[in-house]
Amino acid sequence: MSKAIDIRPAKGKLGVLTPGMGAVATTFYAGVFALRRGLTEPVGTLTQMGHIRLGKRTEDRQPLIKDFVPLTDLDDIVFGGWDPISENAYEAAMTAGVLQEKDLLPLKAEMEAIQAMPAVFDQKWVKKLEGKFVKTGATKMDLAEQLMADMDTFKEKNGCDRLVMVWCASTEVYEEPSEVHETLAAFEEGLRNNDERISPSQIYAYAALKKKVPFANGAPNLTVDVPAIMELAMENRVPIAGKDFKTGQTLMKTILAPGFKARMLGLHGWFSTNILGNRDGEVLDDPGSFKSKEVSKLSVLDTILQPDKYPSLYKDLYHKVRINYYPPRGDNKEGWDNIDIFGWMGYPMQIKIDFLCRDSILAAPIVLDLALFMDLAARAGQRGIQEWLSFYFKSPQAAPGLYPEHDIFIQQTKLKNTLRHWMGEDLITHLGTEYYEE
Ligand SMILES: NC(=O)c1ccc[n+]([C@@H]2O[C@H](COP(=O)([O-])OP(=O)(O)OC[C@H]3O[C@@H](n4cnc5c(N)ncnc54)[C@H](O)[C@@H]3O)[C@@H](O)[C@H]2O)c1
Repeated sequence: MSKAIDIRPAKGKLGVLTPGMGAVATTFYAGVFALRRGLTEPVGTLTQMGHIRLGKRTEDRQPLIKDFVPLTDLDDIVFGGWDPISENAYEAAMTAGVLQEKDLLPLKAEMEAIQAMPAVFDQKWVKKLEGKFVKTGATKMDLAEQLMADMDTFKEKNGCDRLVMVWCASTEVYEEPSEVHETLAAFEEGLRNNDERISPSQIYAYAALKKKVPFANGAPNLTVDVPAIMELAMENRVPIAGKDFKTGQTLMKTILAPGFKARMLGLHGWFSTNILGNRDGEVLDDPGSFKSKEVSKLSVLDTILQPDKYPSLYKDLYHKVRINYYPPRGDNKEGWDNIDIFGWMGYPMQIKIDFLCRDSILAAPIVLDLALFMDLAARAGQRGIQEWLSFYFKSPQAAPGLYPEHDIFIQQTKLKNTLRHWMGEDLITHLGTEYYEE
């Protein structure tokens, strides 16, 4: 066994702040309120339901993760958020239409108490929305300072010991990093000069990290994955993670593709299309926001399949992803996949998937896990990119120059081994020769 690292205990309240109080964020808050009252089970969360094996299989030590590492108790969480449209979490949840009124009504008082703070918002970055509750300031630095003041007020008012931020706001228009994102000094200069290449999400991330608040990015926009923000995270010793919650179709892809590759089955094509009718779908109907999503969704297969190593199996793979805004479907997305695979002697086969999925139902437990694990990482003295949380993301952030790991099973092993390592337990290699020695 190695030595456990020092982890500050999870004492006092944890404020979970979400830029964005739409379908995902409100489904997340409501689920936690319902859990506290014993109205539901924490389905989909590793932090609440997952066990972790420790030591040899013969030892039968498999505690719950939440009993193994010092996570914040659900009773100690307080929620806050910013939104340019939603007024409070109850009204926003009703608009989102993910949860039924019968499930929301018992939680009405708690949900209504979460009043949205005015957002840092600019329609240039989310073309399909018009903001009503929006901060104004002479410069982007002013806006960042207003967000920092919001965090201070929230912390004080709710008696929080710590805060974490999880971006649950709309997907911003696709952007490539530029000089203003290269260094922290250039970025701060850009904030003071209202540089048009600095997006609202980057302003939130900057404000959070200045306040030493860990930041996880649930959307595919360019946010904490630029050198300037990474520099700030290292300098201020704050964890960051991203990006784009891994739910729905991409979750399926990262479950299936490693299986095809493990069995050396070839792929000719993978066509994925979706219909969805929620506000996220409407935002993604704009080509700029869709481009952010497309890039995030397309990267997955290439990294899992390694076509350079297996050219005869994967080099000619045709991968296409479409998202279609179709209002009648609401949040209950339907995702179709047509997968053209081939096997022994090149014979073709097809797999069809029709996933009648509920996007926010899949995303909400991820927000909870990320909030709790990011807070744990901060208390464990971790800083910068938290690659061990790749498990939760479509486009996992990794160190510059390092390819991201997309295979969900490797990601899970990495996550659990990280926890074992921090707690001074042996890493599990699955070698297992000791069971067969005389
Ligand atoms: N649901 C999923 O399965 C899933 C998976 C991966 C990523 N995501 C991403 O999570 C995000 C949230 O999804 P959703 O379904 O809740 O969308 P939503 O449209 O219901 O909610 C997003 C909210 O963000 C608000 N917003 C927009 N810009 C903002 C800003 N600058 N500051 C604060 N708030 C802002 C909007 O007013 C809206 O209420 C989206 O970016 C989506 O692409 C969702």
